[in-house]
Formats: sequence, structure tokens, C-alpha cells
Amino acid sequence: MAKIKFPFTLGVASGEPAPDGVMLWTRLAPDPLNGGGMPASSFDVRWEVAEDEAFGRLTASGTARAQPAGAHSVHVKVAGLRPSSVYFYRFRVDGHTSRVGRTKTAPAAGSTAPVRIAVASCQRYEHGYFTALKHLAAEQPDVVLHLGDYIYEYGKPAAPAPGRYVRPLKDSTAACTTLNAYRERYALYRLDPDLQAAHAAAPWLTIPDDHEVVNNYQGKTGDAKRRRAAYQANYEHLPYRVKPGGDAMQFYRWRPFGKVADLLLADVRQYRTPGDMLGPAQTTWLLDRLTTSAARWTVLAQPLFFAPRNPPSADAWDAFPASRAKILQAAPDDLVVLSGDVHNAWAGELDRGVEFVATAVSSAPPAVRDDALERNPHLRFFDGHRGYLVAHASMEEFTVDYRTVAYVDRPGAPVSTAASFRAVGNKLVRIDL
Ligand SMILES: [Fe+2]
Repeated sequence: MAKIKFPFTLGVASGEPAPDGVMLWTRLAPDPLNGGGMPASSFDVRWEVAEDEAFGRLTASGTARAQPAGAHSVHVKVAGLRPSSVYFYRFRVDGHTSRVGRTKTAPAAGSTAPVRIAVASCQRYEHGYFTALKHLAAEQPDVVLHLGDYIYEYGKPAAPAPGRYVRPLKDSTAACTTLNAYRERYALYRLDPDLQAAHAAAPWLTIPDDHEVVNNYQGKTGDAKRRRAAYQANYEHLPYRVKPGGDAMQFYRWRPFGKVADLLLADVRQYRTPGDMLGPAQTTWLLDRLTTSAARWTVLAQPLFFAPRNPPSADAWDAFPASRAKILQAAPDDLVVLSGDVHNAWAGELDRGVEFVATAVSSAPPAVRDDALERNPHLRFFDGHRGYLVAHASMEEFTVDYRTVAYVDRPGAPVSTAASFRAVGNKLVRIDL
């Protein structure tokens, strides 16, 4: 068989950290923007895990099959690792070796070790550079939560908005509707060095919002073929533990981090009905988790703005007040909600607990009224830059740093901390920087 060209163009990734293991990911794609460029046959890919970056002694290794039906993606479930431990990993095939990724297992069930969680969302390629993710990578958090809009499905507009369209898509680019189109969109994003660096720095947990499929989609009412293609391509490019089943994929899940934090990831799109944001099965699951969580911090991570807003939003939790009330009723008094979607950073106080809204990595923000905070006294903070946030959870406290970059229309923006808050019950206490 002909030797393939360097196939690890899209980098490496890890995710779904557990106390005894993680998922590892790569995809063989020598020509990523032209269908991948692999022959229509399967390849055995060797994977290696070590405690040292030089791979002096392997902790675990094996082979995984990359198949044409999965776009030659590889998902490796590594078990038998130690909790709260850093590992390095790489892949080999046909004489080629991938870059090295760094990952970390979750703490053991009884652990009281602090956890650092980075939160990102909304990375529209056309709208800017992913500089925020470069800085996020440098922080080497214990886990990265990505709360949706990992890709945007849009085609190239006839008249791109000036100043907001800094990395143009190819002229012929249409909105993604087919599996090949979604695959190429993921490939375009994953060629970005900052996104690759962020995946190579820490394990990720991702929950899609709407743009992984199509703007504002909800429930099962849309195009099943398109959803199926979108979920398949999403799976093929991220280190999930579960596979899609046709036009459905279970994204909602619980990821415990010792006694310190229970991360509950909720899906606000797939099961939505008029009047019910989460659907009956997910609601039962979530209410059960909220009432039985024994961790110091119960963290609800989901894409959409959770707190009420004046004026109310038609496409966030404001439109589902009964769903929100049920969650708050079941939640502990110091629930922490993490969200994204709105392309600006906010912090707010809830009836129980607090909400930290991460800004966009690069997506252009909507205009925000000057009196937004005045009209919403429970919202305590607004910042209109791009960036991400870093949460520090320990048995003693939960604090959040809002990291921002000054610009995304060219590479190289430095990072700074716009504000830091401590969650105290349902109050936010600003920490002096
Ligand atoms: Fe977005």
C-alpha cells in the first residue's frame, strides 16, 4: 500500500476525564479540507501513554482502528490510570508520529484536591482568531468545558459585515447540511493552531448548542438527516465516550471531580418541546442529580443564559420559566451555573446560587444596552471582550477569573483578567485584583 502523507494535521485531543482514565482522540487526514485524503481502507493506529513527555517508559499502549466510515477518526478509551495524574499521549501510523498531547485524569471519588476548570464557548472562525484558546492552553487547566458553538454552520455571506469577517471562508462555501460539509468545517477549525493547542493541553468536556447543527434548532422538528450528519461529524472530531445513534446523541452527563465538584452537563437543544427546555427524561435525570449530589459544589454546565433578564430573552431560559424553576427548586442553595451563548461575559445572582456566563472565544457580540446592569440588579458584572473564564473550585471556595483579550481581528492579543468573583451562597463577592 502506498505510504500516506502526514495524517495528523488536525492534532490530538483528550476528554471525558475519569479517575482511572480518559478518552484519546485523533483523526487521520492528510488533506483535511478535501475530504480527508485517506485511502478508502482501514488503518491500525498505535497509541501511547506515558507519565513523561519524552515517553521514556510507556504506561499504556495499544492500537485502534481508523475506518473510512468514521472519517478515519480514532477514539481510544484508556483505563487503568491513576487519579489526579498528568499523562502524555501520542499516536503513530505508517511511520508518522503525532504531536504530543497532555491530559489529566479526574480526582478519586474521595479526593478534596482543588479543581481548575476553564470555560469557553462560541468560536466563530470567520469572526476572529482563537487567541483566547492559546492563553487557555497555557494555563493547563484540569479540564476544559466547552459550552457550545464549537463550529458555526453558516456559509459565506454575499456581503460579509465589514470588520467582523476577518478569516473569510472560501467563496464557494455554503451552509453545512451534509456529512462531508460538516466534516470539512470541523477540519477547518481544527487546523487552527490555538484550538489545537487548547486540545493538546487538557482534557475537554463539550456540550453542543445550536450551531453545531443549525442556528436556533430545537427538538426533533427539523431535518433528521441534517442532525444525523451534524452529530456524526461532531462525534468524529471530539473525544466522546458515547457514540451517536442515528439522528440522536446523548450529550447530557455527569462528570464528578472528587468531593469538590459534580459537573452536570445539560443539553438544551435536542429534547426541547414548547414549555420544556430539557425534555422529560433529561429533566428526571437532572433533578435526581441535583438533589443527590454530595459534592461541595454542584455545577450545572449548559449553553444558555440561565438568569432572568429584563427585557427577557426569547431563546434562553427566560422562555422556559417552569423548567428553570424546577431546577432551582431541586438545586442546593449554592448552585453554580456555567453558561455561554451570548458572546459577552456576565455574572449573576440566582434565587439559589450564582451564574457565570463565559464570553465568546471569537464570535462577534450583540449590542448591549448601557443600562443593562441597572435594569437587572441581580446581574453584577458585564464585560464586552472576547475571552474565556477559569473557575477554581476547592472545599473552601469557588472563584472565577474572567480572562479577556483586547482584540481578535488579528493574532497576538495579550490576555488580562477583567474581574474575579467568589461565590458565597447566592451572592457574588468581587475579589480585588
Ligand atoms: Fe454563539
